[in-house]
Amino acid sequence: MDLGIKGRKAIVCAASKGLGKGCAQALAREGVDLTICARGKDALEATARELSALGAKVTPVVCDVTTEEGRKALLAACPAPDILVNNAGGPPPGDFKNFSLDDWRKAVEGNMISPIALIHATIYGMMDRGFSRIVNITSASIKQPIASLELSNGARLGLTGAVAVLARKAARSNVTINGILPGPFDTDRLRGTSEKLAQSRGVDVAVVDAERKAAVPAGRFGTAEEFGATVAFLCSAHAGYITGQNLLIDGGGYPGSL
Ligand SMILES: NC(=O)c1ccc[n+]([C@@H]2O[C@H](COP(=O)([O-])OP(=O)(O)OC[C@H]3O[C@@H](n4cnc5c(N)ncnc54)[C@H](OP(=O)(O)O)[C@@H]3O)[C@@H](O)[C@H]2O)c1
Repeated sequence: MDLGIKGRKAIVCAASKGLGKGCAQALAREGVDLTICARGKDALEATARELSALGAKVTPVVCDVTTEEGRKALLAACPAPDILVNNAGGPPPGDFKNFSLDDWRKAVEGNMISPIALIHATIYGMMDRGFSRIVNITSASIKQPIASLELSNGARLGLTGAVAVLARKAARSNVTINGILPGPFDTDRLRGTSEKLAQSRGVDVAVVDAERKAAVPAGRFGTAEEFGATVAFLCSAHAGYITGQNLLIDGGGYPGSL
């Protein structure tokens, strides 16, 4: 299916690896011009080369998207995006008892304020131009909180609530805002958490991985490619009637009917 977004301009945040990279690859295959960012220069440039090899025009911006300076650099490279994929690293795991207010401020800054700032800076121009797609990468934890990820549960649910009305306001201008809620995907982040869990339990990482996969009805982790394909559809010309939704992509992990 032609997604009808060839020549559109996209900002994909936090895209040198993992889910962000999966989104950038899927959009590159559709002929979208990409501005991508990450903090690490080498991985970002390597990803930019891979995306260029798919035929995309790519502008890599080395920056921390959770800072004002980083977002300025990103918007300077792409001031009028048609597509905005909000993403950043997730807050660390831990226990409510031990989190400081500063931990909470960092989580909210990174996973709530930062995407809100990028939406605020771009959405009014998007509405004037009459086509845009915004996708916020959040987490399955907003539907079903994850015990060790209280910082993430809170900050991401805050973002979800913050844009719910705006998504409806923008719909008339053919601008959509949707959240996409990943369950376990095979990325560096997931591998890192499996390794930590394995160390703390004194077992091999393969044991932890097998248990985690067994907990997913699909019996496996998701791939960045299938994640990217779903996001690319939500960014497509065909998805203008889907807005204000929060789509779980978790191999059936959430047990509810709705
Ligand atoms: N994978 C999963 O199973 C899963 C499930 C639910 C939610 N999530 C969430 O989805 C998001 C992406 O996860 P992932 O699995 O793709 O992680 P990943 O494989 O670790 O990749 C993270 C990417 O984001 C970049 N990045 C991180 N912090 C950044 C920042 N402040 N500014 C700019 N770039 C930044 C990283 O590059 P640099 O480090 O070089 O900046 C890297 O390119 C995270 O918020 C994660 O919590 C993931």
